[in-house]
Amino acid sequence: MTASFLCNRRRLEGALTLPALIFLSSLATGPGAEAGFTPGSTNAVITIATAHSALNLWVASDQRLYQLGYGAADAPVVIPEKTPVRELEFYPPAGNGFILEPALQATHADGNTSTDLIFVKQSETVADKNIRLTRIELKDGFYPFFVTLCFKAYQQQDVIEQWAEIRHDESRPVTLYRFASTGLVVPKADEYWLTQLHGDWADEAQLVEEKLTSGIKVLDSKIGVRALQFRTPSFLIALDHQAEEERGRVLGGSLEWSGSFQLAFEVDMKNRLRALGGINPFGSQYRLVPEKTFVTPGLLWSWSDQGKGQVSRNFHRWARLYGMRDGDKPRPVLLNNWEATGFNFNEARIVALFDGARSLGADTFLLDDGWFGNRHPRNDDKAGLGDWQVNTNKLPHGLSYLAEEAKKRGVDFGIWIEPEMVNPVSDLFEQHPDWAIGQPHRQPILGRNQRVLDLSRPEVREFSWKVIQDTLGGNPGIRYVKWDCNCYVTQPGSSWLGPEEQTHLLIDYQHSLYEIMGRMVTNYPHVMAMLCSGGAGRADYGALKYFHSFWPSDNTDPARRVFIQWGFSHFFPAGALADHVTRMGHRPLKFTLDVAMSGALGLDLDVSKLTTEERKMIAHAVSLYKRDLREVVPPGDLYRLESPYHGPRAALCFVAPDRSRAVLFIYQLKAGEGDAVKLAGLDPQKRYRVHEVNLPEGAPSQLALEGKEIEGSVLMGDGLVPPVRSEYTSAAIELRGE
Ligand code: GLA
Repeated sequence: MTASFLCNRRRLEGALTLPALIFLSSLATGPGAEAGFTPGSTNAVITIATAHSALNLWVASDQRLYQLGYGAADAPVVIPEKTPVRELEFYPPAGNGFILEPALQATHADGNTSTDLIFVKQSETVADKNIRLTRIELKDGFYPFFVTLCFKAYQQQDVIEQWAEIRHDESRPVTLYRFASTGLVVPKADEYWLTQLHGDWADEAQLVEEKLTSGIKVLDSKIGVRALQFRTPSFLIALDHQAEEERGRVLGGSLEWSGSFQLAFEVDMKNRLRALGGINPFGSQYRLVPEKTFVTPGLLWSWSDQGKGQVSRNFHRWARLYGMRDGDKPRPVLLNNWEATGFNFNEARIVALFDGARSLGADTFLLDDGWFGNRHPRNDDKAGLGDWQVNTNKLPHGLSYLAEEAKKRGVDFGIWIEPEMVNPVSDLFEQHPDWAIGQPHRQPILGRNQRVLDLSRPEVREFSWKVIQDTLGGNPGIRYVKWDCNCYVTQPGSSWLGPEEQTHLLIDYQHSLYEIMGRMVTNYPHVMAMLCSGGAGRADYGALKYFHSFWPSDNTDPARRVFIQWGFSHFFPAGALADHVTRMGHRPLKFTLDVAMSGALGLDLDVSKLTTEERKMIAHAVSLYKRDLREVVPPGDLYRLESPYHGPRAALCFVAPDRSRAVLFIYQLKAGEGDAVKLAGLDPQKRYRVHEVNLPEGAPSQLALEGKEIEGSVLMGDGLVPPVRSEYTSAAIELRGE
C-alpha cells in the first residue's frame, strides 16, 4: 500500500543543495536501510528484484536515471558505455529535451514549464523476508522540486508495486499537469500485443487483444466515480506475439486506483514501447503547495516468461496476501434478496427468506437496496438515497431485529449501502443541495436518478462516514456490507473547492473515499464487505484492499458470466469474484451452479419459487462447495485451459498450492466434439483420483475416468475426455492426489 496522500514533507531536505543531499544519504543508513550510494560510482545500477524478475535502472554520467531492462532475474545486465538516449529515461519529465509522452509535467512557481530530474540518492529497506522497498530520490537540476520513485518488490509473488511522491519547496504552488505512477520501458520486442478488459454495464471485462503500432494507444476513464464501468485499469503486454497462457514473455499491470485513470502505451521511432500509467491528468491539474506531498497510486507490475497464466497467478497470490481483506479466509455463501424482491419487501417477507437461506445452506443473508427513507421512501430508484433511516413501514422493528431473527435461524445478516450518493428527492438533498457534485449554471445531469456527493467537502465526508457508523455501529448484529455506487460524474464541479482548485475534485474525492473505507475496516474489522458499483465500476486493487470481494456484473446469466469471470480472472483471484446463482438467462440449473462455484459462490433467488428438485440441487451444490471446493478454488492456482473466446467451451482448473488436489470446470457454451481437456499445474508424478461432482441426485457420472487413479503426467499429456458435449452442459471434476 502506498503512503498516505499529501503527507507532511521533511522541511530540512527541501532546503538542501544536491551535494549536501548526497552527503547526507551516505550517512543516513538508519535501521533497515541497506544501500545508498554516490552517483557515477561503479555500483550505480539499481536493481529491483523479485524471485524471478528484475528491473534494472542506471544512473548515467549526466546524472539522470535510465532503464536498463526489466525481465528474468538472471538475465545479464549490460551497462552502456555511454549515456543512453533520452527515450530510455526512466521517469521522464516534460520540457527539457524529452520529446515523447512524459511521466511528469509541471509548471514551476516562476512559470517555467520544464523539469529536469537528477538522481540524488537511493535506499533499500527490507520490510520483511518477502518485501523490499527501494526509494530513489530525484531532484530538479535547478528548482527545489523533488520526485521520489518508490518500489515495493514482493519476492515470492514476482510483483513490483511502483508509485511516485512529488513535493517541492518553491515560493508558490507548482501546478502538476501530469503525474504518472510509472513510465516503464517495456523489454524490446519485435511486436507488442496489448490486452485490455473493456465493456459496459452488464457486459463487463470483455477481453480484447491488439497489436500496438507506432504512436500512442490510450486506455482511460474520465468519469471519476464508478470510474471503471467501461474499462478497468489492468492490462497485459505480450512480447513478440499474441499472449499465450503458459508460454512467452508477458507483462501485467494493474493500477491501484478507483477513479479516472490513464494508461498510455507509446511505440516510438525505434519500435520501443513505454507504458505509462496513473491517475488521469485530464481536467485534473493539481496546484501543489509547498507543505504537501502528492503521492500517486501504486501500479502493480508482474513479469513472466511463462505466459499470461503465470502473470495471473502472480497477481492472485499477491492479492490473497496483500491486495484484499482476509484473502486467505473462506468467503461466506451469501443469499441476496435483490433478484428475488427488488425494492418490494416488508419485514415478514425478509424474515421468511431467512429460512430459505438456511435451507439452502447459505451462511449470510444480504438485505439489498430499499430498506431506508421515510418521508421519501426508497420504493424505487427515484427517491430516498441519502436518507439512511430505516423505513418504518417496511421494517417496523429495525435492522437489529432482522439481524437477531436471522441469527435465530442460523444465518448472519448483511446490508446494502450506497453512502456517496443522493437522490434529489430526499431530505438530504432538500437540506444540502450544495453537497452534490455539479456545475453552476448547468442543468444537473442525473445517473439512475441520483447525484454524487462531494466528498472533497469535509462535512460530506463526515456524513458518509456517519452513514456507515450508524448502520454498522448502531446494529452490531450486522456481519456483512455491500457498498454500492451507481452514478458517475459528468459535471465535475464542487461548491466547496475554490476556483483554482476545481480540478482537484476527482482526486480529492478518491482520497476521501479511501479514508472512509479505511475507517470502516479499522472500526468494523468483523464486518465482511463486498465492493459493488452498478456491476464492476470499481474492480481495482485501490478499493479492493478494503473489501473481501467485488461484484463482477449485474449480468448473472451464466452464459455471459463465463466470459466476464474469465476476463477478471486475468487479474483477480477467484475468491475476489462474487459469483451468484440466479435464474437470469434461464439456463440449466446445474450449468448455473457450476459457473458460480468457480468463484465466491452466492445465491440471489426467491427460495419460495424453487421446485423441490431445484432446492435439493442448490443445497447439494452449496454443501459440496463449502465442504470440498472452497478449500481448493479460492486459494488455488488457476490454469485457464481452454478459452471461451476460441472454441465452443471453456475449461479452467484450480490446483491447490501443494498440488495435492485440483478442481476442473468445463462449460460447454455451444455443442462440441467433446475432445480431451488437457490439465495443467498438476504434479506429474502424483496419481490423482478422478471424481465428477455436482451431479443431480442419483445420476451416474458419464466420465470415462470416473473413480480411476491417473498420473498427473497423463492428465496433463493425454487429458481427460469430459462427459459433456451439448450446449449449456457442464462438469465439475475433483482430482485428489493419493
Ligand atoms: C446495483 C447493484 C445491484 C443492486 C442494485 C440495488 O445495480 O449492482 O446488485 O444492489 O444496485 O439498487
